[in-house]
Amino acid sequence: MRVRRRAQLVCRWDTDGLFVALPGQRRWLRASPDLTNLLQAATEWTDADDLAQRVGGEQSDRAQEAIKTLLDIGVLVSDDTADTPAPVWQHWGPVAHRFHIDARDANYLVDSPRRDEVATTITTEGGAPAPFKRYLDTPAVFLPRRPLPLRAPVEDVFAGRRTHRRFTDQPVSIDALATVLFHSFAPQRFLDGGMFGVQQARVSASAGGRHEVECYVAVFAVNDIPPGLYHYAPDRHCLELLDPTVDRTRIAALVYEQEPSYQGAFTCLTTAVAGRLSWKYRHPRAYRLWMYDAGHYGQTFALTCTALGLAPFQTVAFHDSHVEQLLGVDPDEEFAVYLLAAGHPPVSGDGLPVDHPHPPPTQLATADHTAPTNVPAAQEE
Ligand SMILES: Cc1cc2nc3c(=O)[nH]c(=O)nc-3n(C[C@H](O)[C@H](O)[C@H](O)COP(=O)(O)O)c2cc1C
Repeated sequence: MRVRRRAQLVCRWDTDGLFVALPGQRRWLRASPDLTNLLQAATEWTDADDLAQRVGGEQSDRAQEAIKTLLDIGVLVSDDTADTPAPVWQHWGPVAHRFHIDARDANYLVDSPRRDEVATTITTEGGAPAPFKRYLDTPAVFLPRRPLPLRAPVEDVFAGRRTHRRFTDQPVSIDALATVLFHSFAPQRFLDGGMFGVQQARVSASAGGRHEVECYVAVFAVNDIPPGLYHYAPDRHCLELLDPTVDRTRIAALVYEQEPSYQGAFTCLTTAVAGRLSWKYRHPRAYRLWMYDAGHYGQTFALTCTALGLAPFQTVAFHDSHVEQLLGVDPDEEFAVYLLAAGHPPVSGDGLPVDHPHPPPTQLATADHTAPTNVPAAQEE
């Protein structure tokens, strides 16, 4: 039998030594010098007995045992083992695959007696991150407190929500912007979050009520608000001025010039203050949480804009580092997440984007699936 090292192995080298990730498992194997030696020797297809002899010498029996174990756990492969990653991991690469594995199956301690114990440890440790960011030493535009009425029937809003890519020059009113920001980003009431303190209730759900998303608004054409870059303070419901020189050209440079990202009346650059999540959720799966949360915020933004007759757009096509530099945030603690923009739509009669033709007759591509074998067969009555 010929064996070799699996084509893609992810390793990490920290203060406890070198570790090899076990393929497909959330476990890591400490790489002793002997193991490192064996893996190095197994770079090319090699006869298993020759390999054991070469790396084990007089202890080739032990080396043979090790080779068998490494084959069982997939660190080595034999010529009859498939070693081609599934297409998704060929496309996204071994590091994304490792992250996917490490972020799976986190124990949420739901209904576990350890839940309170862990919560007590976290809360007594202190260091709870502030729920709101504030820029108090800069001029602020206080937004109208009364949101505009949203009277459109919900089913009309659902049916009308589309991604718009063209906007008119008509400015958006300060009331409309205030309404969008209030529903998308502001707490609407406060709840008792027990050990974790006061919890905010917003329109969007948020993992653990942590509400780690911050919103920065580049104003281009909003009545009564001077153009520039602002931070939206959801607790004060105001826009705190960060940079009056930011205009469409500066945003275009961050978004690979994709026009709908900066041609509306305003663009929201949202970020995640990761510490608000990581303080409570201390496992790699928490890295996913801000993505779920950003999606909720994005949908609330789009539906609110639609209900107001505005044209929403969203994208993740931006240069993260440049966005973070523009906002002046520490990219290790607060990172760019989602770009949400809006303006007035060119009138299309049906309210839908002007550039959306109906498709010609076509056939949808389908994939056939086989039900898993462990699903019990339906019982005949
Ligand atoms: C995460 C995300 C990123 C997107 N990025 C872009 C983008 O960069 N450019 C673009 O024109 N549309 C972008 N869109 C819009 C999608 O293309 C659009 O939602 C999809 O075509 C369905 O159309 P609809 O939103 O009008 O229903 C994005 C949507 C999402 C959810």
